[in-house]
Amino acid sequence: MKKFLIIPLLFLSVTAMAACSPSDTPETGTEQPANPEQPGGEDAPDKPDSPDEPVRTKTLVAYFSAQGHTQAVAERIAEVLGADIFRIEAAEPYAENPYDDSNRIQNEAYNGLRPGVGNLPDAETVAACDTLFVGSPCWWHQPAMVVCTFLESYDLKGKVVVPFFTYGATTYLNESMQTIYRVTPESEHLPATLPEDLDPDNIREPQSDDAGIPMPGNANGVERWLHELGILQ
Ligand SMILES: Cc1cc2nc3c(=O)[nH]c(=O)nc-3n(C[C@H](O)[C@H](O)[C@H](O)COP(=O)(O)O)c2cc1C
Repeated sequence: MKKFLIIPLLFLSVTAMAACSPSDTPETGTEQPANPEQPGGEDAPDKPDSPDEPVRTKTLVAYFSAQGHTQAVAERIAEVLGADIFRIEAAEPYAENPYDDSNRIQNEAYNGLRPGVGNLPDAETVAACDTLFVGSPCWWHQPAMVVCTFLESYDLKGKVVVPFFTYGATTYLNESMQTIYRVTPESEHLPATLPEDLDPDNIREPQSDDAGIPMPGNANGVERWLHELGILQ
């Protein structure tokens, strides 16, 4: 497994020694297996063997994906970092072809609704993680709102939240990122800051404020992106 950079603040926050395995989650039939190399597994040490060895943080990759693009990115992140992975399911599933649910999705996005999560992990599972990657498709200029429901279900104070999106175009990337940052106000974020949101109340029209937000694009871009964020050395 590749080493990844330990963000300085995480040195201070590695308190949870329980594994962040999703195995405690309710069964939904779509559970993601824990990576055997995940910190907290039986073989993986939580603490450094020597003072010189960096502390390895506990990382969870939580994602929602309807058509598989975000899932592919999430799986690659988990593979590269040896992290646990968890697929967020909507309590009321979307159509197999989510474009058939476009009206529902637009309504949820434009009105900031919070559709239920069908498989919320227990609080301890999320609490045990120091770093939470959270992935979503960009849906009607916003994250899939079920991802916001997921994030607001937990105390994420002091955790590092690393959002990632897949999309058809980056036109609303900043709007989507801003929403994730807004619903996790007590977390640290990577990247630490976003471009200025030129018109925060407007999620319906593009504002050309999306440049400079690092994103993997697809699974092949994950390692480059992790380097860009400073997570991989
Ligand atoms: C209903 C709907 C709305 C979408 N809205 C946007 C959008 O506003 N901006 C965008 O760039 N892509 C949009 N897309 C495209 C998805 O973001 C893109 O296909 C994404 O990679 C799908 O991720 P998934 O395969 O993980 O579900 C939309 C797709 C659907 C189904």
